[in-house]
Amino acid sequence: MNDKAIILKKPELRRYLVPVNTAATQQLFTDCLILGSGVAGLRAAIEAASGGCEVVLLCKKTLQDSNTWNAQGGIASVLGSDDSFASHIEDTLTTGCGINDRDTVEQVVKDGPGLVKELLKWGAEFDKQKDGSISITFEGGHSHARVAHALGDNTGKAIAEALINKVKSLDKITLIENCYVTDLITSDDGDCLGVISQNQKGMMEIIWAKTTILATGGAGRLYRETTNPEGATGDGLAIAVRAGAILRDMEFMQFHPTTLYIAGASRALITETLRGEGAILRDVNNYAFMAEYHPDAELASRDIVSRAILSQMLKTNATHVFLDIRHFKKDYFAKRFPLISELVESFDIDISKDLIPVRPSAHYMIGGVKTDNQARTNIANLFACGEVASTGLHGANRLGSNSLLEGLVFGRIAGQAAAQQCGKDGVSLKKFRYDIPQSDRSRLDTADVLNSLRSLMWRNVGITRLAKPLVESQEIISFWQRYVLDKVFDSPQGWECQNMLTVCLMMAKAAEARTESRGVHFRNDFPQTDDKKFKTHIEFA
Ligand code: FUM
Repeated sequence: MNDKAIILKKPELRRYLVPVNTAATQQLFTDCLILGSGVAGLRAAIEAASGGCEVVLLCKKTLQDSNTWNAQGGIASVLGSDDSFASHIEDTLTTGCGINDRDTVEQVVKDGPGLVKELLKWGAEFDKQKDGSISITFEGGHSHARVAHALGDNTGKAIAEALINKVKSLDKITLIENCYVTDLITSDDGDCLGVISQNQKGMMEIIWAKTTILATGGAGRLYRETTNPEGATGDGLAIAVRAGAILRDMEFMQFHPTTLYIAGASRALITETLRGEGAILRDVNNYAFMAEYHPDAELASRDIVSRAILSQMLKTNATHVFLDIRHFKKDYFAKRFPLISELVESFDIDISKDLIPVRPSAHYMIGGVKTDNQARTNIANLFACGEVASTGLHGANRLGSNSLLEGLVFGRIAGQAAAQQCGKDGVSLKKFRYDIPQSDRSRLDTADVLNSLRSLMWRNVGITRLAKPLVESQEIISFWQRYVLDKVFDSPQGWECQNMLTVCLMMAKAAEARTESRGVHFRNDFPQTDDKKFKTHIEFA
């Protein structure tokens, strides 16, 4: 890979979303402040607390509102006797299309089995085979069965519950739910000192921390169609960029090929492990089309399957395709995939007779806050891990089920780093004031802007992209920004809107700048991969 990234100019943004006056704001202190309750945040909290830190873990909503909790397929790790680290590394690199960070890939893959076993010890109920070994299955791009699952297709819940129970058993961790962080606070030298947040009672407070770990998760809710829960609005990316963090790979949003498509119902993930175990994709004419697009058919990588579905939808003038699991044994299906079984039954789909309507939707943000292999960002005292971070593991395309693994590995690393720093002197109370002049521009209805923004992203910054719509998107988003970013809001809907406009503009800009196709980023006007110019990252610095 060409180590020299392509640099785009960071957006010019107001430093803080809300006015700050330390003299009039409640203040708390901790050693280690963690934002986010997915696998990365929880794992970081355990490590930091075990290392002696007083930890405060903040969740935007509840402990359960995370992409981790909703994960179905599983966690990828070398657990099979015929598998090897070399093979998992190779599959991750091949899927990542030439821009993964090889050292990071090796580190994550090699730490995997130990961390999965640790989860078992903490009570995660991984499904087992008759001989007692962990049951593993396939997903696209994996040359060996290596996706471990728990409670059938309820893997995320099983992992999160085990981690939450462990977190709750540690006295040094304070959990705070329904707390919205508006910004990271930085010193005049640019070091991270903690956050400004709004607590459950609607009061603004400042939390000073020796280390802050950003584990705020994903951004699927920037799109009209997504598998992600409500909270996944990319806030962590926006607060990081306002604080001076480098963001990279913002053009790489991974779309999941199969989301249940029932008009009027909210979208729900239909796990790829179904295809790993033999589900067939058919178009509305009952044609099994995948072999036409790739020799690995249903198990080609996600970008290929998503584009194939889109193309088949266009060819057949349909809003969806189907997953066919009529050949699955009903009893086995109900036991192995209980979540999906319940879901399809709730729509009167009888899997022995009916096909399941599906189409792709936004699933995983590959880009994020640039970190090194110690989870450090470019801001002193600020670490990032999990989906909000860009560690270099995924390159231009994430191998299925590598993300829970990444969250565990880098959560632990970030927690260790925090533990090393917690012996340092505390952050003392700093006096400062930040005022924001009143806007004299018109007000827009933020709910309306958000709906329009999500549709715009789906249409113009979606599975396939073209220069003109990408440029138009930037113009439209910039227009909304002029009327939304200059306002002061006092509740999450307004702040989310400001953050989403910030992140979406960066995504559209990066997607316009990458005039080639690589991994999940596909340009209809530049369908080839251009290694000469683009075998590297795009960064906002
Ligand atoms: O299809 C799935 O179960 C998703 C897995 C993942 O995103 O890693």
